[in-house]
Amino acid sequence: MESLKELRVYCESRRIPIISLATEEFLWKLLRKHKPKICLEIGGAVGYSSIYVAGVIDTWGGKITSFEISYPAYQLGLWSHKEAHCYNIRSYPYNALSAPIKKLMETPVDFIFIDGQKSQYGEYMEIVEKISSPHTVIVIDDVIKYHNKLISLYWYLQKKQIKYKILKLDPDDGVMVING
Ligand SMILES: C[S@@+](CC[C@H](N)C(=O)[O-])C[C@H]1O[C@@H](n2cnc3c(N)ncnc32)[C@H](O)[C@@H]1O
Repeated sequence: MESLKELRVYCESRRIPIISLATEEFLWKLLRKHKPKICLEIGGAVGYSSIYVAGVIDTWGGKITSFEISYPAYQLGLWSHKEAHCYNIRSYPYNALSAPIKKLMETPVDFIFIDGQKSQYGEYMEIVEKISSPHTVIVIDDVIKYHNKLISLYWYLQKKQIKYKILKLDPDDGVMVING
């Protein structure tokens, strides 16, 4: 998708963090394997990852809802979604910690991508637990580089005895996968 390439160049030139190409490739395989229909993203930034996921899941009628706390980033995201002709994305300028996610989402959610503030990952997990099923696939980004910010995540995983995998996708970073 041409506009997605342009958006990556734009983000890189302004140091806006977005998913790596390796994460993109990983998501492509994972999404095609599980074919999720109802998807959620926490931390949409300017729309890059939601456009990417939306493009893959559109093939089987999937849709994604994205939450982004920064209003300027959310607005740029809306514009990017339109430029990319993505009509299966809904985005909200909300803090995922206080948004009425349960009301806004069809449940259970099939796929969740967590890419917000690293220190809040455990709190996001507490929230998404309420809209998940035992089969919900969860991908959590940047878990190697920011390992020391993930105290709440590891506390939650231990408390709930949740099994997970960590996949090193880049020389210095990777993702955590639950049910993947
Ligand atoms: C790494 S960026 C996301 C990049 C995006 N997923 C992509 O690849 O295009 C993290 C984003 O999470 C947002 N964020 C941080 N805390 C949040 C929260 N509590 N709720 C929603 N968004 C949050 C930040 O404003 C930032 O834009």
